[in-house]
Amino acid sequence: MSDQLIWDPLMIQRYNRSGPRYTSYPTAIEFAPAASDAMERDVLSRRTSKPLSLYLHIPFCRHVCYYCGCNKIVTKDKDQAEEYLELLYREIDMKAALVDTSRVVEQMHLGGGTPTFLSDDQLAELVKYLRQRFTFSSAESADYSIEIDPRELGPDTLSRLRELGFNRVSFGVQDLDPDVQAAVNRVQSEEMIRDVMNQARGLGFRSINIDLIYGLPHQTRETFARTLETITDIRPDRLSVFNYAHLPQRFMPQRRINTADLPEPAEKLAIFGLAIQHMNEAGYHYVGMDHFALPEDELSVAQRSGQLHRNFQGYTTHGNCDLIGLGVSSISQMGPIFTQNFTDLSNWSEAIRSNDLPTAKECLADKDDDIRKTMIMGLLCHLNVRFDDIDQRFMINSRRYFADELAELSGMENDGLIRITHEAITVTDAGRLMVRQACMAFDAYRNGSKNGSEDKEQPRFSKAI
Ligand SMILES: C[S@@+](CC[C@H](N)C(=O)[O-])C[C@H]1O[C@@H](n2cnc3c(N)ncnc32)[C@H](O)[C@@H]1O
Ligand code: SF4
Repeated sequence: MSDQLIWDPLMIQRYNRSGPRYTSYPTAIEFAPAASDAMERDVLSRRTSKPLSLYLHIPFCRHVCYYCGCNKIVTKDKDQAEEYLELLYREIDMKAALVDTSRVVEQMHLGGGTPTFLSDDQLAELVKYLRQRFTFSSAESADYSIEIDPRELGPDTLSRLRELGFNRVSFGVQDLDPDVQAAVNRVQSEEMIRDVMNQARGLGFRSINIDLIYGLPHQTRETFARTLETITDIRPDRLSVFNYAHLPQRFMPQRRINTADLPEPAEKLAIFGLAIQHMNEAGYHYVGMDHFALPEDELSVAQRSGQLHRNFQGYTTHGNCDLIGLGVSSISQMGPIFTQNFTDLSNWSEAIRSNDLPTAKECLADKDDDIRKTMIMGLLCHLNVRFDDIDQRFMINSRRYFADELAELSGMENDGLIRITHEAITVTDAGRLMVRQACMAFDAYRNGSKNGSEDKEQPRFSKAI
């Protein structure tokens, strides 16, 4: 795999359509309302020795960032966290009672919201609670990570987290320009970022990630270039450069962003082009779908060796795990079954108080889903899918099975974005930024074609760029 992304603005504009980010296939919007928690109970209690990945959602934030599209509750009331934790413990107990807890936990991720809204003692109690119920791996390769807002860190929080076994952190930074920060209500200084990065490094956290967003109000090529220079100088192991998804109908806080302050589409595209070029020059490898990593980081290594996977937490090296979601809005994935918890606190709380799993939605993937998922994840993770591999794994003739899809992709092939031979489909250097358009050809749910519902492609998804 080459690291030379080809930047062709005309081609990007041609293929820049809305589409899913494929952190799963079928994607979460295809999950159906669950009449009960029966399917989730059943899949949790199935006997298998597959390792586990735990995702815990802590929805609270002390301040609102106007761009935010995450599932969060903005409050300064610390008591809310205590009430939430009590119910979270009950959810942990219910799920731990069903699952074979001798299965090894290889991965744990605390996301949000802002997990460090919890006090250091609450975080310690939560981890202790989990360790008493599950079998955590002590292998070097185990991944215990947490999302951190650098503004919400006590003086000892990072060292306490390290003592608790966390070995990775992800810091939300977004942008360093003062005007941009003011326009999105997310003010934090460069010194603060350097300080938390140095602390995290000194404590031995690895694969440290920083989140940035392009397309925010008042951003220009000049301002974002300065942010990128500083951030690549700080040199996190991983960098996520997210496309700002402005969907004010869906996300209330975004109504506080003045649309006129957003960069014009051409400028936004140019900002992204500049980011790609800058990251390339700074020696970062483009993993795909907004994610960059240093060449020696595990994500880059896994991609080179064909071991990269993609799930609800983005790109991961632990794709072999069953994923158990805990907390409001979290998603679980066990074998062919996906379930999602209620996204609002009251329904989630009520279910747990009634001793039910808080399952709101579910999806049982069929064989066709599995075949298509393998095509889509192959393109996203390895930029290549071999027809023989699909044929042997699923006992089909994949070229015939996907005759219509391959015909649909002929446009991308003629434009030099993918190569289709008798053996394989390969994403070219020119096509890497448009890979999700190639994936969409294999998505049977597009336009409601598989489940019969009407077109739900737009405006629920952001554009690729
Ligand atoms: C849960 S937050 C990270 C942890 C912490 N709450 C923080 O903000 O530092 C997840 C990340 O999603 C990204 N994000 C949030 N809303 C977004 C949006 N509308 N468009 C693109 N990225 C967004 C931000 O980069 C943010 O850091
Ligand atoms: S970006 Fe992070 S801190 Fe800001 S509102 Fe969203 S979840 Fe909370």
